[in-house]
Amino acid sequence: MSSQEPTAGSAPLAAVVVLAAGQGTRMRSTTPKVLHELGGRSLLGHVLAAAAPLGAGTTVVVVGAGREAVEEHLAAIAPGAVPVLQAEQRGSGHAAAVALDAVPEVDGAVLLLNGDAPLLRAETVRTLVAEHQRAGNVLTVLTAEVDDPTGLGRIVRDDAGAVRAIVEERDATDGQLQIREINAGVYVGDAAAMRRTLAQLGSDNDQGEQYVTDILGLLVAEGAPVGGVPADDPDDVLGCNDRRELAARRRTLNDRVLDALMVSGVTVVDPQTTWVDVTAEVARDAVLQPGTHVQGATTIGSGAVVGPDTTLLDCEVGDGASVVRSHCQLAVIGARATVGPFSYLRPGTELGAGGKIGAYVETKNAQIGEGSKVPHLSYVGDATIGRGANVGAATVFVNYDGVNKHRTTIGDQVRIGSDTMLVAPVTVGDGAYTAAGSVITSDVPPGAMAVARAPQRNVAGWVRRRRAGSPAAKAAEAAENQAAAAGNGRSGPPVADTEQ
Ligand code: UD1
Ligand code: CA
Repeated sequence: MSSQEPTAGSAPLAAVVVLAAGQGTRMRSTTPKVLHELGGRSLLGHVLAAAAPLGAGTTVVVVGAGREAVEEHLAAIAPGAVPVLQAEQRGSGHAAAVALDAVPEVDGAVLLLNGDAPLLRAETVRTLVAEHQRAGNVLTVLTAEVDDPTGLGRIVRDDAGAVRAIVEERDATDGQLQIREINAGVYVGDAAAMRRTLAQLGSDNDQGEQYVTDILGLLVAEGAPVGGVPADDPDDVLGCNDRRELAARRRTLNDRVLDALMVSGVTVVDPQTTWVDVTAEVARDAVLQPGTHVQGATTIGSGAVVGPDTTLLDCEVGDGASVVRSHCQLAVIGARATVGPFSYLRPGTELGAGGKIGAYVETKNAQIGEGSKVPHLSYVGDATIGRGANVGAATVFVNYDGVNKHRTTIGDQVRIGSDTMLVAPVTVGDGAYTAAGSVITSDVPPGAMAVARAPQRNVAGWVRRRRAGSPAAKAAEAAENQAAAAGNGRSGPPVADTEQ
């Protein structure tokens, strides 16, 4: 995740603090909550991505439950972020205090946010910070008007509309439960004021925890200026506490991604069954057919047609290419190339421009040159294939001797006959042919025809003798009688073994 420069005009944030130590009990998972995935990133990854464009000098992530896994993930996605351990989960306020204690040098505006709000967008955070600075607040909380506030902290305002307190649902009065403006769990505040009030937090509430939300009430009591900024899109603030919410957030995120793609000129035939990660890129005039999953760092070129029922993970699909009912990972598919139906492209597959991987083909570590074709029912592993070659149906690149993998090299304009076994390591020179059914164990020079199969032997009359009375014997007899009746004189005892 690259942190970008802060937008001109907005004062930079001193730090971002992400609270991610909670158990996430309601997920009922051995995976820590913030590592659950949607739309190509973990919950934590989405939160960090929303904060990254603000360009804070320091990013702190409070870890606790599932600490090792969270730290490992953090090192992979945001190596600059500092994990801070909250050994005991004593509440969101305690977590925030632990975080700020770990970075005593941080001074100025701090963005504090829950690690489980995957729909939060950078624009929303930017608006919150800008409003905080414009109003000269000491603390500003992101809020939203929602239809169903169940389970969320309520924003209590006075008659003049000023924010007075945040009350958790389990501690709320009946009157407060009616409030539909909720706390998003995203706050921007002055570091010193936060430290001071966090140190005063008690745990006199239904859960016996220190609530970060209580610092707002403490600041109000001090007479400090605080504020609440409603998010433009209430979806932005939705947390993710159980698997049902995870599915709902995933759907919303996907709707947003598809919406942006369609606005930019991509055809999405069936948005209900098309899933595109936030990390993927699709160029205009591409068509995504139903049942298509575009995952990871996949890029799809303009005019390409993907699907139906296709998964692309970390793939590159060139302009005008087509991929039908196939599963592809870490594959590069050239411009105007075609793949499928029903093929499996594994890592290291590179199909050249205008090339073809047809039906029921598996490929792995295979460079297939421009215009070359593997049309049917083949396995192509550890191969280099030149340009304009054709690999006949049911060819196998026999790459594994039981211990090691070996490579096969095929030249330009080669014709591999159907059902050829290419036993690697082996090289077939430019313009060479192999005969159908050959087992190729040694190199074929350019322009040669390699024939490597047993000669054919026909054992005459075998069926009549050995399968007497069978339908096959009857059919053979009928054919012989018909030939005899035709009187062509050539129906006598058939010629013995023939060789081809
Ligand atoms: C919290 C807010 C609530 C708000 C909601 C928005 C509190 C007390 N309440 O409720 O007002 O409407 O988010 O989604 O904050 N955490 C720790 N250490 C702990 C406890 C929690 O790091 O000891 C982290 C969690 O990982 C999580 C965040 O703090 O990212 C909030 O905790 P959570 O239990 O999810 O709070 P909610 O009940 O959702
Ligand atoms: Ca939560």
